[in-house]
Amino acid sequence: MDGNSGLSVVILAAGQGTRMKSALPKVLHEVAGKPMLAHVVDAAKALSPKSITIIYGHGGAIVRSAFVQDRELRWALQEPQLGTGHAVMQAMDAINESKTTLILYGDVPLISVGTLRKLVNEAARGELSWLTAIVEQPAGLGRVIRDANGQACAIVEEKDASEAQRLVHEINTGFVACPSPWLVEWLPRLGNRNAQGEYYLTDVMALAVEKGCKITTSQPNNLWETTGVNNREQLAQVERIAQLERAEELMAGGVTLRDPNRLDIRGSLSAAQDVTIDINVLIEGTVRLARGVSIGANCMLKDCDIGEDTQVLSFTSIDGANVGRNARIGPYARIRPNTRIGNDVHIGNFVEVKASDISNESKANHLSYIGDATIGERVNVGAGTITCNYDGANKHRTIIESDVHIGSDVQLIAPVTVRQGATIGAGTTVWKDAPENELTLNPKAQETRKGWRRPTKKGAS
Ligand code: UD1
Ligand code: MG
Repeated sequence: MDGNSGLSVVILAAGQGTRMKSALPKVLHEVAGKPMLAHVVDAAKALSPKSITIIYGHGGAIVRSAFVQDRELRWALQEPQLGTGHAVMQAMDAINESKTTLILYGDVPLISVGTLRKLVNEAARGELSWLTAIVEQPAGLGRVIRDANGQACAIVEEKDASEAQRLVHEINTGFVACPSPWLVEWLPRLGNRNAQGEYYLTDVMALAVEKGCKITTSQPNNLWETTGVNNREQLAQVERIAQLERAEELMAGGVTLRDPNRLDIRGSLSAAQDVTIDINVLIEGTVRLARGVSIGANCMLKDCDIGEDTQVLSFTSIDGANVGRNARIGPYARIRPNTRIGNDVHIGNFVEVKASDISNESKANHLSYIGDATIGERVNVGAGTITCNYDGANKHRTIIESDVHIGSDVQLIAPVTVRQGATIGAGTTVWKDAPENELTLNPKAQETRKGWRRPTKKGAS
């Protein structure tokens, strides 16, 4: 990391997270499709720090391997876990190399870059900058104690607090930024003579008072930013908060959401003006919706680009595809990876498309499987048409050139080509190339058996 801010970020993530009742370490549980710890790492990166150190402990190997691609991260094992102050001490090397240190929690994923920037700026000016919050229910949290002048002078954990101190509603969020040299001096001085026998990071505040250092407190831009996750209920609450935030951003950008509570974005969605999204839509990976796109109820969209004014009708799943302008997909269509669909294309109900290229103005309106196919312009694919792309060992391509008309219930045995302008009669099995502009069919005689009777059930009268 080559940020010039001289900032070291320390993320505390060594706690056990037993209340999650999970084999997965707490910080790897996902919010909006991304591990909680990744949210915190991304917020840290937005500050262009000199280093990011993650303090890990319980289940540490799994946590590290989830971030193995990210070579910029530093890791420090905290074993045993003797408290938040002890945790920060494990990052002493990084703190020593920096001018300012910012401490974050791996299980508080919604913290915003704006809130953190404020803390860092204050610490860079030579202040101990502590993020506090006024909450209705402070139970279990560290209380911020102020002197007669209203100046914050100590943080007292609930277990160590007096009756009077417990009445305080201003709590420690855990987030703090500090000039690094102060931490280098103070961390080794922390003691553990308290109700939990831990080295509390929060005791740093009293040391700052003792040294006459300036202490600043500030509040997060939004109270929910500091919501921590200890159990699955809180995980669900944080997920909803994250989703509503995204929904509000979309609406502010000119997107209609039929119900902002029924949209889930597990990845990133960019949507232009006048996009409309109906209820129960799930977005995964990276999805881009151009101006005027409408998405029907109960659709799943993953890693796709949808062009202007295209309608995706209800119960459609699109995964790994590019769709052009003014197309109509669904209802009940399934578009699978490596598919490109052109402009003004119609893909109808119960049509599955995989690894295919369908050019402008072509239609497959009903009940088809189009796999490994290249389809030209203005092609009509009749109901029940199947590309037989798999011979049991290998996949083969079907090529349908422009202006072809394929009747209903046609099987195309790949590899096979249907030439420009050809017509394929209903019910044909195409196993040889079909020539240009001609009608190709498998002649079948129709006969009527006179006097034939349907069998009847034995014993039936
Ligand atoms: C801490 C604060 C408390 C604050 C609260 C906010 C202290 C002493 N107390 O309390 O004032 O109101 O957070 O949620 O700082 N961790 C480690 N190693 C440890 C202990 C903790 O990495 O040895 C990590 C945890 O994984 C967690 C964070 O630090 O991410 C906070 O730990 P936790 O045990 O939840 O602290 P609290 O007692 O809740
Ligand atoms: Mg806690």
